[in-house]
Amino acid sequence: MITFDSSKCIRCGICSEVCPVQIIDQEGDTLPSISEELYSMCRRCGHCEVYCPTGAVSSGYDGIYPDMRADLPHFLEPQEIRDHLISRRTCRVFSERPVERKTLEDILGTVRYAPSGSNRQPVRWIILEGREKVAQVTCKVAEWMARIAEKDPENPMASFFGKAARAYQEGNDPITRKAPNIILSIVPADNPWAQADSIIALSWFELLCQSYGIGTCWLGLVRMPAREDPSILDHLYIPEGYELGFTMGFGYSKYSIRSIPKRNKPDITWI
Ligand SMILES: Cc1cc2nc3c(=O)[nH]c(=O)nc-3n(C[C@H](O)[C@H](O)[C@H](O)COP(=O)(O)O)c2cc1C
Ligand code: SF4
Ligand code: SF4
Repeated sequence: MITFDSSKCIRCGICSEVCPVQIIDQEGDTLPSISEELYSMCRRCGHCEVYCPTGAVSSGYDGIYPDMRADLPHFLEPQEIRDHLISRRTCRVFSERPVERKTLEDILGTVRYAPSGSNRQPVRWIILEGREKVAQVTCKVAEWMARIAEKDPENPMASFFGKAARAYQEGNDPITRKAPNIILSIVPADNPWAQADSIIALSWFELLCQSYGIGTCWLGLVRMPAREDPSILDHLYIPEGYELGFTMGFGYSKYSIRSIPKRNKPDITWI
């Protein structure tokens, strides 16, 4: 339930203007209101509350405010965020140092502010802690790859999978890069935006990890097999109605970068 405090409200109409589903009525000197039958359309986005210049809006829906700093907006300087983004690199060599749960809880506490389609916030997380649990997944993926290479030679990835499976047998790990942990995003299978939401959330996760010295590696070579053959992740008890979003290895980086590599120029069409 969203309420509007008559004594604080200056009838500016901003809450009504910013509401993405336009359910707030406010005209002239009237106090804003939302009619009973329109409440179900509310996305719980909080825009009415945070754009209100006088603090007259109270959002009564479920949720938790940020817990680590004052909820005043704070923006990085363009140079700061640019430097952070271009310094991100995929990590494929990890140290043994374990990542504390508290650190991950702090990071995921921030990730919950990532955008999501209709603000449904559909992403849930499964975290595999420690090499042993990661190795279990790696082994199942390697077996799957070996099977495809043998039984489905027409598959365009067959020779690559065969090579990866052999490398794994020889003690290398091109699949999970010997990452000490894996984070999996899981999303409701019937939400058409949720796969995109999951990628956005993991991108935030990755960029936040960087500030803690934690390296990350998108594990397409786990995600693709696991989506082809869901039994690979059977032991993780993905809830009914949910499916895998993406998989990312992480752990403290063994090495630090010393410079920034080249990338293509942006390809922009101006119309
Ligand atoms: C969707 C996606 C899947 C990826 N899968 C893997 C993977 O399975 N193994 C791996 O080592 N790197 C993987 N990567 C990392 C890319 O290879 C890496 O981002 C790219 O080479 C650029 O390097 P940079 O991230 O250091 O800028 C993946 C990246 C993305 C975005
Ligand atoms: S929370 Fe968002 S969707 Fe709901 S009334 Fe406020 S602005 Fe509109
Ligand atoms: S934004 Fe705040 S002050 Fe302005 S009309 Fe809405 S509740 Fe009133």
